[in-house]
Amino acid sequence: MNLLDGKFASEKIKIEIAQEAAAFLAESGRKPHLVAILVGNDGGSETYVASKMKNCEKVGFRSSLIRYDNSVTEIDLLAKIKEINQDSSVDGLIVQLPLPKHIDPEKVTETIDYRKDVDGFHPVNLGRMMRNLPCFIPATPYGILLMLQAYQIDTTGKHCVIVGRSNIVGSPMSILMARNANPGNCTVTLTHSKTHNLKEIILQGDIVIAAIGRKKFVTADMVKRGAIIIDVGINRETSTETKSGFKLFGDVDFDNVAPISSWITPVPGGVGLMTIVGLLKNTLASAKKEIYI
Ligand code: GUN
Repeated sequence: MNLLDGKFASEKIKIEIAQEAAAFLAESGRKPHLVAILVGNDGGSETYVASKMKNCEKVGFRSSLIRYDNSVTEIDLLAKIKEINQDSSVDGLIVQLPLPKHIDPEKVTETIDYRKDVDGFHPVNLGRMMRNLPCFIPATPYGILLMLQAYQIDTTGKHCVIVGRSNIVGSPMSILMARNANPGNCTVTLTHSKTHNLKEIILQGDIVIAAIGRKKFVTADMVKRGAIIIDVGINRETSTETKSGFKLFGDVDFDNVAPISSWITPVPGGVGLMTIVGLLKNTLASAKKEIYI
């Protein structure tokens, strides 16, 4: 078993991002700028957004956090997004999900200018991704690609089984792993809650990407010996064992799956750290106008 170490890979890439951000500042007189909107005070979302902001500062970006409480109206939120769309000092805009029930996430996603959509959720970016055109790739799938690249894992011709079809991870990941690109060129099976014979299908995976949001869902009896295991799960439970009062569990039963895998990501310290890198890379690319003018 070899560890796909998100700490190692993310720190290495963040050094490169910081160098590029410094060059951008020297050339343009400003820092790449990410704005995050956070609605309400869901504990997980608070933690993720704080980490995004902290990492921006670390690599020399400007970051702004706009907070609303749960009672914000959809009209007010969309008006704020439109205002930020027009603000030329902003390169990237993200609205942390999930949102309260009275706000339609599709409307929010489509209101963000696709040229600032560094989450890569806008239909323009998703459509361009399908056609293998320059676009913002959703941060978590992008982070997984960067992880595979960092460890020079050859994915060509492999059977990649993805567990979970979310808009944020599973669905875009299935497109990316099937693309004629590197990483990519996989035969992809996208599985979900209605899939029959799930265990038998996961057992066929040379690469298994677990993004189902259920603690230790993928167990050792479901995994082929030598498989590459990517665990996207961040299942947060209260705990007296940690300083934060929370403990994170992946979607994979790490202790029992690791010994039979060839490569595996830990939780924490795996994909989560790479997601931030994906977001930073998209924000930098936006500032440098590498994708859209
Ligand atoms: N909630 C969970 N993952 C994400 C993400 O990548 N972006 C946003 N905006 N919200 C999320």
